[in-house]
Amino acid sequence: MTRNFILKSEEDTTKLAKSIAPHLSIGDIIALDGTLGVGKTFFTKQLGLELGVKEVINSPTFVLVNIYQGDKLKLFHIDLYRLKNNEDIWSLGIEEMLDEGVVVIEWPELAQPLMRGRTFKLNFSFDENDRKVELNVPTTVKIDFAGLTSN
Ligand SMILES: Nc1ncnc2c1ncn2[C@@H]1O[C@H](COP(=O)(O)OP(=O)(O)OP(=O)(O)O)[C@@H](O)[C@H]1O
Ligand SMILES: [Mg+2]
Repeated sequence: MTRNFILKSEEDTTKLAKSIAPHLSIGDIIALDGTLGVGKTFFTKQLGLELGVKEVINSPTFVLVNIYQGDKLKLFHIDLYRLKNNEDIWSLGIEEMLDEGVVVIEWPELAQPLMRGRTFKLNFSFDENDRKVELNVPTTVKIDFAGLTSN
């Protein structure tokens, strides 16, 4: 199922994260696409809050992976922006992460071959004045996007 929303403010992105969080379970992948500064890490921070992560979530640009514990789920936050080599992707252990929790991936192209789990794809972009997002979620998931404006 594809849905498009306008994200006028951080509040809208927060609503988006709140809508999605209750549907997540172990083995799910959340692929966050979109240009620099469009709000992928901000979305992940809000998702973490919603999952009960108590630590501050920061961009894993340099470390590649950060691991957080939520109330029920572990959250793996990956940023592949600096990963140049296709082969390095296998050494990250994404498959093992999927056995243990939910995996959020910024700049997910290189991880495409590893995406076996249920995948939620979010493609963020800048509109004229706002941000927007195209969402592709598994058809079996019925998400209530209350309060968000369709595009
Ligand atoms: N919907 C929104 N409306 C307004 N500002 C936003 C929105 N979403 C995120 N921001 C702001 O945009 C800034 C950059 O966002 P963020 O770091 O999340 O981008 P990113 O996509 O992760 O970038 P990178 O590709 O560099 O990792 C943050 O300061 C954040 O507060
Ligand atoms: Mg980021």
